Amino acid sequence: MIVMGIESSCDETGVGIVRWVGDGTLELLADEVASSVDEHARFGGVVPEIASRAHLEAIVPTMRRALAAAGIAKPDAVCVTIGPGLAGALLVGVAAAKAYAAAWDVPFYAINHLGGHVAVDTIEHGPMPPCVALLVSGGHTHLLHVEDLGRTPIVELGTTVDDAAGEAFDKVARLLGLGFPGGPALDRAAQDGDRTAVVFPRGMTGPRDARHDFSFSGLKTAVARFVEARERAGEPVPLADVAAGFQESVADVLTMKAVRAAQDVGVDTLVLGGGATANSRLRELAEERCAAAGITLRVPRPRLCTDNGVMIAALGAHLIAGGAQPSALTVGTDPGLPV
Ligand code: KG4
Ligand code: ZN
Repeated sequence: MIVMGIESSCDETGVGIVRWVGDGTLELLADEVASSVDEHARFGGVVPEIASRAHLEAIVPTMRRALAAAGIAKPDAVCVTIGPGLAGALLVGVAAAKAYAAAWDVPFYAINHLGGHVAVDTIEHGPMPPCVALLVSGGHTHLLHVEDLGRTPIVELGTTVDDAAGEAFDKVARLLGLGFPGGPALDRAAQDGDRTAVVFPRGMTGPRDARHDFSFSGLKTAVARFVEARERAGEPVPLADVAAGFQESVADVLTMKAVRAAQDVGVDTLVLGGGATANSRLRELAEERCAAAGITLRVPRPRLCTDNGVMIAALGAHLIAGGAQPSALTVGTDPGLPV
C-alpha cells in the first residue's frame, strides 16, 4: 500500500509519499516541501493571505516532484490535513487532495495535523510503542497520550492555555530585536549566555495542576518587564543572558511536564515533535531527564519535525491499516480541529 499525504495548514506546502511495509513500519518514498517562510519575514509572522496564495502556486509542482521522486503515477490513497490550521491555507490542500483522489479514483482520508506530528516518528524509529508525545511548534503546544497508533484515538493530556511555546520564542525574540522566525535566532543568542544569570518564572508548574497544561504568556511578560526596567534605568540589556534564561524556563517546564505526564499514564517512551524541538536546550534537557527517569526518548530529525506531507501520509497509513473508512469528498476543513 502506497499512501500520499498533503499538508498546507500553515506556511509549508508538503507532499509526502510512504509505503506501508507492515506492522507499523513505513518506507519513505518522497518528501517534497515548498515553504513561503521568507515571504512572511518582513511582516514578523505568518500572513494567512500570503500563505494561501503561495500554496496555490506551489501545490501542483510539489505534487509532481513527489510523484517523480517516488517513481509512481498515483498512490493507493490520498490523505490531507483538514485542521487545525489557517482556514484559507487548509482549503488549498484539501481541494487539491479531493481533486487528485477523484481523478485517480483512489480513497481519500481527512487527517488531523497534530496526530501527523506524532506519527512521523515511525519513519525514523519504526513501530510506535504506547507513549506520551510532546508537540511544540509556532502554533501548538500539546501533551498527547498515544496507546495504539491508528487504532485507538490519541488523547490530549494538556495544552497551552495561552501562547504556544514556539510563539513565545518568536515574541521574545522580537522583543529582543532578533528577527523572525525568532526561535533559531534566540537559541543562537542563548549559546553565549548564562542560563542562571536571570531566572524567569515557570508557568503552571504547581502541584495542583491536574491536567498537564502550559502557560507561556506570563513568562513573555516577565521578559518584557525585565527589559523595560533595564532600559528605564539606562542600563544595557544582557541579551545573551536574557535569551538563555528565557530558553531555560521554557525547556525546563516542557521537559518536566512531559516526563511527569509519561509517569502519570505509565508509559516509558516520550516522542517529541514540531518545529521548536530543534531547540538545543530543549533537546539536551529532554535527554537528561528521560535518561534519569528511565524513559526512552524519540526525536525525529529536524526536517520531519517541521510541517511536511510525510507526517500526514504516516498517520494516514496507520489509520488505514487500523481499519479506518475513507472520508466523504464532502468533508470540509476545520481550522480549530481538536486532537
Ligand atoms: O513546526 P513549525 O515549523 O511550524 C509550525 O507549525 O508552527 O515550528 C516553527 C516554530 C517557530 O515558532 C520557530 O520559532 C520555532 O518553531 N523554532 C525554534 C527553534 N527552531 C524553530 N524555537 C526554539 N529554538 C529553536 N532552535
Ligand atoms: Zn505543525
